[in-house]
Amino acid sequence: MPDSSPTVPGQVPSNGIDTTTAHSARIWNYWLGGKDNYAVDREIGDQFCGIFPEIVDIARASRGFLTRAVEYMAREAGIRQFLDIGTGLPTHDNTHEVAQRVAPDSRVVYVDNDPLVLAHARALLVGHTEGGTEFIDADLHDPDKILAAAGETLDLTRPVGLMLMNILGHVGDLSEARSITARLLAALPSGSHLAIADGTNVVKGKEFDEAIAIWNEAGSVAYNLRTPEQIASFFDGLELVEPGVVSCPYWRPAVALNPGREVDEFCAVGRKP
Ligand SMILES: C[S@@+](CC[C@H](N)C(=O)[O-])C[C@H]1O[C@@H](n2cnc3c(N)ncnc32)[C@H](O)[C@@H]1O
Repeated sequence: MPDSSPTVPGQVPSNGIDTTTAHSARIWNYWLGGKDNYAVDREIGDQFCGIFPEIVDIARASRGFLTRAVEYMAREAGIRQFLDIGTGLPTHDNTHEVAQRVAPDSRVVYVDNDPLVLAHARALLVGHTEGGTEFIDADLHDPDKILAAAGETLDLTRPVGLMLMNILGHVGDLSEARSITARLLAALPSGSHLAIADGTNVVKGKEFDEAIAIWNEAGSVAYNLRTPEQIASFFDGLELVEPGVVSCPYWRPAVALNPGREVDEFCAVGRKP
């Protein structure tokens, strides 16, 4: 939980929670209307919103996509195991809640490298069904560690729903982000699915670029906007589920949407053949 004890600038306290630098999960939590953030996160979050107020719509549209993508995977693709890397702070419709609503026996492994996320996740992301949840403290840059630890909870010979939601943008080098994704997918069997959402700069490019520059100066880990084509490249070798790579509100919306509701957050789901 956020504590208010003072932190010496530049020093990370013994609980590992640095309250002097803005953190991705906490700023995101602030935009989603959560309370698990510190003054430093709110300051950057507000500066960001001053330049690019659409970020709040983006955060919510992305969460809506997560809900629909997990429902699709659980209901239509029969997925019962999920690996959610870059969990973020608990909010409404967390991956295990959506999956277990459809299929109570769903198992979900959450992975993050932020100590505050892990503390909250262990306390709050607990399934109440015959399925289960597990938490791994690991870095996306070490996919082999993630796979080894996930394999203790998930049966990696059966299809897995791999979730990389708003995390690949934190890997600066596109080819590295692609090779991490490919390494994770290589360990999963046919029938596994990949869900990705990440920020783009094709709808309101300039303002989003400016706001991201502020984040990258102040935040703990930089974020990189990508083009929809670059996001599509993470799905090379997979079968894209309809409607393909689209702005989040347009991925299988509950009701048909008119044009013009695009936000700078693109997403897709793909199936490993
Ligand atoms: C913007 S938040 C997104 C949270 C959630 N996936 C969502 O879309 O609502 C990014 C998350 O990725 C985590 N993260 C960033 N870089 C990471 C890395 N290299 N390894 C593991 N987690 C990372 C952050 O701690 C944070 O929880």
